[in-house]
Parts: sequence; C-alpha cells; structure tokens
Amino acid sequence: MTGKILVTGASGQLGSRIIHHLLTTQGLPASALVAGTRDPARLSDLAGKGVATRRIDFDDAASLKDGFAGIDRLLVISTDALDGAGTRLRQHRAAVEAAKQAGVGRIFYTSLPGPDDSLITFAPDHLGTEDAIKASGLAYTIFRNGWYMENLFMALPQALASGQWYSAAGDGRLAHIARDDIARAIAAGLASPPAENVTYTLTGDTARTTEEIAALVREVTGKPLAVVHVSDAQLAEGMAGAGAPAPYIPTFVSFDANTREGKIAMVTDDAKALSGTSLTSLEEFLVANKSALLT
Ligand SMILES: NC(=O)c1ccc[n+]([C@@H]2O[C@H](COP(=O)([O-])OP(=O)(O)OC[C@H]3O[C@@H](n4cnc5c(N)ncnc54)[C@H](OP(=O)(O)O)[C@@H]3O)[C@@H](O)[C@H]2O)c1
Repeated sequence: MTGKILVTGASGQLGSRIIHHLLTTQGLPASALVAGTRDPARLSDLAGKGVATRRIDFDDAASLKDGFAGIDRLLVISTDALDGAGTRLRQHRAAVEAAKQAGVGRIFYTSLPGPDDSLITFAPDHLGTEDAIKASGLAYTIFRNGWYMENLFMALPQALASGQWYSAAGDGRLAHIARDDIARAIAAGLASPPAENVTYTLTGDTARTTEEIAALVREVTGKPLAVVHVSDAQLAEGMAGAGAPAPYIPTFVSFDANTREGKIAMVTDDAKALSGTSLTSLEEFLVANKSALLT
C-alpha cells in the first residue's frame, strides 16, 4: 500500500476505536494512518504514537482539500448533525466531492441498515450519501452499521429505575451489535478491501424483540423490568413529559417504529466474517455494563 488511510471523526467514539483496531488488531504501522478531526488538539495521544493528525471539518472545504491530499483509503464517518435541516447530507456530499477532487483510491462510509426502506427520520441522509458515493465513480466500501448495544443506555437505566420500559417497537426484532465490534470489522475492511465495490451490513448475531431483551436484562440485573407497549403517539408524549428535547422526539420514536415494522430485523455474518472473530453477545455486554445500567 503506497497511500495512507485517513479516518475522519477520529476523536469520536467509533473513529477512535477504528484507529485503535487498525494499529493493534490489524497491526498497521502508525505511519500508514492519518487521523482526521475538527480539533486535532484532541488527538495528542495518537500523535504521540506517531499517527499524523489533520484538521478535517466537512463544513470547511479548505480543510478537505488539504486533508484528503495523498490519501489512498478514506473512511468518512457519518456526522452527528441531526438537525433535520439537511446539514448532514450536505456535509457528507462535500466530503465525497472533495474525495473525488483529491483522487482518493477508495472511499469508505458508515451508513445504516436498509437506508432505502427505513422509517428512521435521518435515513435519507445515509441514502443520499450512498447515492453520492456511487455517482462519484470512486471505488467504495459501504458499512451499514446496525444498532449499537450502547444505544440501550438511552432507555434502560431509566426503565430499570422505574421497572417499566415504554416501547413502541411491538414484536419487532433488532440484532444489536457492540460499537467496538463494528469498529473491529470496519478496521478489517479498511485494511484489506476487496477489488470490487461492496456494501456490508454489520449486525449482531441474534435479533431479539424488546420483550426478549427485557428478559435478558432481568436475568443479568436481577431487577424487575416490564415492557409497557405503547403507540408512537404515547411514546412521544412520554418522552416530552420526561424532558426529551422536542426536535429529537420524532427521531427517537422512528427508531421504535422502524423496529416494529421489521425494517431492522436483519442478521448478517458480515461483521464476523470481516473481523474473523466472534462478536460480543448481548448478555456479555449487559454483564459488563451491569453497574452502569443500575446507576
Ligand atoms: N449505529 C448506531 O447505533 C449509531 C449510534 C450513534 C451514532 N451513529 C452514527 O455513527 C457516527 C459515529 O458514531 P460515534 O459513536 O462515534 O458517535 P460520536 O462519538 O458522537 O461521533 C460523532 C462524530 O461526528 C464527527 N463530526 C461531527 N461534525 C463533523 C464535521 N463537521 N466534520 C467531520 N466530522 C464531524 C465527529 O468527529 P470529530 O469530533 O472528531 O471532528 C465524530 O466522529 C455518528 O456520528 C452517527 O452518524 C450510529
């Protein structure tokens, strides 16, 4: 490999673990990597290990022109700009265009499962980005990242405290996957891409209903936890009452609706096949995080 691998969003939770796995699990030399972030001062640890850092901000075209120069493999980590005003798609399109101008050898992107058929409010950002990548003519790898196990922290601590887990997901199934297992799989895909364009869907290996997840949580924590099945409107009302920020409530509700309608029930072998190891099970994750769930 002559050019370097650049990971954007390198100070984020996923980006930092991907770089960790590139260096350790994949054994790449620090000199092969570039860590891109809006604030390189936050990456002093990586710089100390010999990883080059560059300022990359999808809102700043100059940072992309300079930052993508000489890069062979570019991982664009989707941003957290969920303002509903098209910011994220604009950011990602700017990154794809700059990648094309810079002549990167291959672009990699973190999408979400089934973006063309998803009920999640921000799915069009991902579909639009995938479309822009395909239209760019660049070689590509798309990682459609399943739901992190860590997302359960959005609901479970409060649910365990009250003993009631309000859900509009019905009997829909979801195969959560640990964030670090996604990072390990992406690092493997970055280190050894195939010749052709490829789209992976990275899921856990068991799709469970909310009732089944609650049963596991009861078993691990020893605490009572009943699933209270509610409608989308009731869930939204409950979230508003609990102080959730109003602009984000439709997005939170769309997660459950998407699950209920079976749009994220898929289970694939992609994560395991890429990383060549077994995945963290939900039970292992819950055991490891038991005390945090109960605080
Ligand atoms: N599959 C799931 O369950 C799930 C859950 C949560 C999020 N996500 C998605 O996956 C992404 C990574 O997840 P995470 O856990 O690492 O979230 P995170 O820690 O919140 O990371 C947010 C990322 O967005 C980057 N970013 C924000 N604004 C940017 C900009 N203007 N230009 C370039 N990068 C920008 C940040 O990079 P710097 O701060 O380093 O610049 C950071 O890497 C999220 O941004 C989101 O799109 C997926």
